[in-house]
Amino acid sequence: MISSFIVALWILLAPLQAQAFPATVEDFFSRASLNPYTDPDPTWAVSATINGQTFINKGLVAFGLIPSNFTDSTGDTMGGIGSAIALKSGTFTKTSGTTYTGTIIAQPDRGYNVVQTVDYQARQQEIDFVLIPFYGPGNLTFTTALNTLQLTYKGTTLYYERNGTDTTGLDALGVRPQMAGFGIDPNADPAMPIASASYNHLSTDAEGVAFNSDGTFWVSDEYGPYIYRYSATGNLIQTIQPPSAFLPYTNGALNFTSVTDPTTGRVGNQGFEGLSLDPTGTTLYALLQSALVQDGGSDKSTSRYTRLLAYDITQTIPLLVGEYVVPLPQNSKGNTLAASEAHFLGDGIFLVLSRDGDGHGGSSDKSSYKQADLLDISGAIDIHGTVYDNATNPIANSGTLVSGITPGTYVSFVNYINDTQLARFGLHNGKPADQTLIDAKWESLAVVSCQDPTYPDDFFLFTASDNDFITTQGVSGGVPYNAGLDNDNQFMVFRITLPSTPRN
Ligand SMILES: *[C@@H]1O[C@H](CO)[C@@H](O)[C@H](O)[C@H]1NC(C)=O
Ligand SMILES: *[C@@H]1O[C@H](CO)[C@@H](O)[C@H](O)[C@H]1NC(C)=O
Ligand SMILES: *[C@@H]1O[C@H](CO)[C@@H](O)[C@H](O)[C@H]1NC(C)=O
Ligand SMILES: *[C@@H]1O[C@H](CO)[C@@H](O)[C@H](O)[C@H]1NC(C)=O
Ligand SMILES: *[C@@H]1O[C@H](CO)[C@@H](O)[C@H](O)[C@H]1NC(C)=O
Ligand SMILES: *[C@@H]1O[C@H](CO)[C@@H](O)[C@H](O)[C@H]1NC(C)=O
Repeated sequence: MISSFIVALWILLAPLQAQAFPATVEDFFSRASLNPYTDPDPTWAVSATINGQTFINKGLVAFGLIPSNFTDSTGDTMGGIGSAIALKSGTFTKTSGTTYTGTIIAQPDRGYNVVQTVDYQARQQEIDFVLIPFYGPGNLTFTTALNTLQLTYKGTTLYYERNGTDTTGLDALGVRPQMAGFGIDPNADPAMPIASASYNHLSTDAEGVAFNSDGTFWVSDEYGPYIYRYSATGNLIQTIQPPSAFLPYTNGALNFTSVTDPTTGRVGNQGFEGLSLDPTGTTLYALLQSALVQDGGSDKSTSRYTRLLAYDITQTIPLLVGEYVVPLPQNSKGNTLAASEAHFLGDGIFLVLSRDGDGHGGSSDKSSYKQADLLDISGAIDIHGTVYDNATNPIANSGTLVSGITPGTYVSFVNYINDTQLARFGLHNGKPADQTLIDAKWESLAVVSCQDPTYPDDFFLFTASDNDFITTQGVSGGVPYNAGLDNDNQFMVFRITLPSTPRN
């Protein structure tokens, strides 16, 4: 391991905060008898109802970042970390009435690949945090807002596959044939995506992470699209291959490249973005970013019907036990807002992070949709093991769902681009494209109890952005690069009320 680097240096917080409060916050104290560091303002609550249960968004309560030019212990630029996050088990602690500490495990995707894919080894970044939620109505300055979520890098765990070989972020131009005799699964590896026949390394574009209680963890990826299980030290143990309908077949042969779309199966770069375990650790859920090719996935106007898989992981070889259709939201032009993460809440209900690609580092400065929404699959038809697991049977044609398939219910919930809420933390949506512009690609969710006896169903929702490793002072595999823009790794925390989620 490595020595820790201090990302944000605020040691004596209380005096800083007192100085920084705008007058309006002091007014708020006396007027409403509410403490802006302990009491959510009830007038801000935005609620959503799904399956008879009421969920409440009490607003944005913290913001933090890791600078775009920060490097990890391997010397690589620390980027992409909002591709997946989890709170390290047992670390979240309420240390005072206003302060919480804990550790985030963040998992980047495939390195700086704006120009071309690179030989980036998949990894985890461990980040300690101090959370001091801010509920006040005044607008903090951007600099002061950074006090609300202070992030300190602790270390990196690299991922290795068969024979201790480094994984790679390079496009998967090759296929390693199915092999027996590896890991804990007697059927061993299915056919695997590799960089090429001559560079026989597992190509990994990691987008989801979920931890078992024994320290091993699951990683979902976009190339396969596969789900891998790794040991706590980052060594591959086993691989879940989804039904054949999901696999990228081109003219009858597997081809895992992300550059061209297959004839059936997952669309390039639209693999398993969402990965989540139920609280008992028995069912693993994986959400495909948008529709399979045969279900309309090649065109944004027809790609809304994606699929969610459920695996029973209590067996040595995980068993597919559920498959549900998810109707993703669409923008005003009818284009799909693809899903970048899913988080299981309980009772068949999930948070799903759906969004456009606009914001800092994105296609344009002004975003129109970035939300952690609610999905309920309790009334959805389970299609696992049916004809739809064969690519010859699409679930949708030209954007219309095949009759007889009841999808999950999707309801709008936490809006990331609420101007009033962003302004409270010195942030904004739209021009100017400076450091205070909200990032484009939010891709991760983690939820933990606020440990507030007055509001026992209140949770903090942590979310982070994938900055695509965009920095003017980058290093990739020892080689410097300049991406022409500094796009920080941004983190936000919302306070939300979740009925019937176990109060962890
Ligand atoms: C934006 O947040 C404010 C509270 O700051 C709330 O009153 C309003 O309803 C929110 N708007 C949306 C669209 O969520
Ligand atoms: C990142 O950039 C800032 C501002 O230019 C600079 O002060 C800092 O030293 C840089 N950090 C690294 C790790 O290069
Ligand atoms: C906070 O910022 C927003 C957006 O700039 C502005 O409309 C609002 O008046 C500000 N509120 C306060 C209390 O300064
Ligand atoms: C792992 O090493 C063994 C023994 O050298 C070799 O036969 C096998 O092909 C290697 N597997 C991979 C995937 O490189
Ligand atoms: C997969 O397709 C790419 C792009 O067409 C091609 O370069 C590559 O050789 C193919 N791989 C295999 C294993 O056929
Ligand atoms: C899918 O169905 C087709 C047509 O019935 C069949 O030829 C093919 O073998 C099936 N594929 C799989 C993987 O079962």
